Amino acid sequence: MPKKKTIYDLQQMKRKGEKVTWITSYDAPTAALAEAAGLDMLLVGDSLGMCVMGLEGTVPVTMEQCLHHTRAVRTGAPNTFVIGDMPFMSYQASVEDAVRNAGRFLKEAGADAIKLEGGVRVTRQIHAIAEAGIVVFGHIGLTPQSSGQLGGFKAQGRTVEAARHVIKDAMAVEAAGAHCLLVEAVSPEVTALIHKHLTIPVYSIGAGPDVDGQLLIVSDLLGLFQAFTPKFVKKYAHLAEEMKRAFGEYCSEVRSGAFPGPEHVYNMVEGEADKLGELEQEIWAS
Ligand code: KIV
Repeated sequence: MPKKKTIYDLQQMKRKGEKVTWITSYDAPTAALAEAAGLDMLLVGDSLGMCVMGLEGTVPVTMEQCLHHTRAVRTGAPNTFVIGDMPFMSYQASVEDAVRNAGRFLKEAGADAIKLEGGVRVTRQIHAIAEAGIVVFGHIGLTPQSSGQLGGFKAQGRTVEAARHVIKDAMAVEAAGAHCLLVEAVSPEVTALIHKHLTIPVYSIGAGPDVDGQLLIVSDLLGLFQAFTPKFVKKYAHLAEEMKRAFGEYCSEVRSGAFPGPEHVYNMVEGEADKLGELEQEIWAS
């Protein structure tokens, strides 16, 4: 029986350089297989809109749906760290909404932490949720709930100017009191800088290898999601029967550093990475 991780364990793993493995999960059987395979964390993502409900995006997903799936995952994986994902409009309108809805994930669904999207513009919410005693994961870079503003599901931070915004978001999330940060679809050079300068654990989904752990969407990982496959995805299986085998292989490749490889990252536009040193000086020199 694995021992459930705590935020303290995640900090210790960062300190020791042990990679954290996590995937999304939406149901109890998959969560149970994930726990048996030794995943460190499970995110009940609002990607359930696309992966489970067949929607085109995450915007229509509701609090009730997220709570429902989080409860199922909690039941299937009682000894795994479970993160509830705050859906669109559960935290944007007010700090009060944010704290109440974050609390519902813990009280009604048994989550260990919550995740919310955004950097600078959600710092009041992050601060208030953390002040309420809840473990908070920030999520920056490609934030699917704002894909309308981002012009679609596009990689972020591929120029120095774009990198500046991503870095500012990362710094704001940490300063607001978040306990961990997830970076999505950001050039690996930029993610590495963020990882170098932040003290909280930094995790990647499509944001390169120089971080404290890797996240993938379970339906992508298993070859179940047919609509499209982002570049950063590696398919570990194509058949449902292979699910348990795939989780284990994913874990071992993340832990050994074999995944992600150079083919799973969004490199910066040619010549832009050379300018990151100047940006680093400008932001962190003083
Ligand atoms: O909903 C989700 O699964 C997510 C990931 C894309 C990070 O937020």
